[in-house]
Amino acid sequence: MSESGERSGSGPVAVVTGGARRLGRHLCATLARRGYDLVVLYRDSEADARTLVEEIGAIGRRARALAVDVGVNTQVTAVFEDIAAQEGRVDLLLNNVGNYNPQHVSRLDPSVWDATLATNLSGAYYCSFHALKLMVHGGNIVNIGMAGLEGIRANVHGTDYYVSKTGLLVLTRALAAAYAKEHIRVNMVSPGQLENSIDLPSPEDIGRSVPLGRAGTLQDVAQAVEYLLDAGYVTGVNINVAGGYRL
Ligand SMILES: NC(=O)c1ccc[n+]([C@@H]2O[C@H](COP(=O)([O-])OP(=O)(O)OC[C@H]3O[C@@H](n4cnc5c(N)ncnc54)[C@H](OP(=O)(O)O)[C@@H]3O)[C@@H](O)[C@H]2O)c1
Repeated sequence: MSESGERSGSGPVAVVTGGARRLGRHLCATLARRGYDLVVLYRDSEADARTLVEEIGAIGRRARALAVDVGVNTQVTAVFEDIAAQEGRVDLLLNNVGNYNPQHVSRLDPSVWDATLATNLSGAYYCSFHALKLMVHGGNIVNIGMAGLEGIRANVHGTDYYVSKTGLLVLTRALAAAYAKEHIRVNMVSPGQLENSIDLPSPEDIGRSVPLGRAGTLQDVAQAVEYLLDAGYVTGVNINVAGGYRL
């Protein structure tokens, strides 16, 4: 747990799950440059979270990093109690955590199923449940999904992941409908094959599955998140940032 040294005036507060590394880290830096103060939630990557807090401090925003397993509601409750006491508000919740450990559905152990659903789906719900109480002046929730959810077909590898992301889309729409009157918008951004994907095809082959012919960048995803933050009349949508993957 750490805090940036300099405080240069408080801004709107963004809470980012899985924020210390990879996509989450890039989104934290993007949000800091937009003027958000950050609460970076991480599970194991304490050293990365620490350096990110320093980087956000150098941008001129306030940042704290808190450890939590988002799949355990008691831990999520404690973290949001801390945020309520320290920041006193949440303006943006970015549910970025999404574990992907593809196994064939015929060999999928129930413990893996439980862990995926707890982390990717229940974790997003727990964080939303607590963050919504702190969005007293309206706010945004952005959930990170995966491309092609609307027309999803059989996926025998990673079924638990696809189920969790489909559930996240259902949750996105339900919360969007339920909280619109409170000026809280809830949307989803769904990457396809990002450049850091664990099963990225080679540059020669990627055009077979990605019509735009390249992997997505972290900046491509950040651009869609920023669009949603600006788009005051948009709620309950899912933006595929995927170059046409799974069309
Ligand atoms: N990368 C892609 O190509 C791709 C494609 C489609 C969709 N997506 C989606 O984009 C999002 C980010 O992807 P990514 O590849 O950057 O993610 P990632 O590296 O797999 O995971 C991001 C972070 O999630 C945290 N995390 C995992 N389980 C957690 C738990 N139980 N509680 C709290 N934190 C936990 C980890 O934090 P610690 O390191 O601190 O433990 C990890 O660094 C995910 O939702 C993913 O499904 C990614």
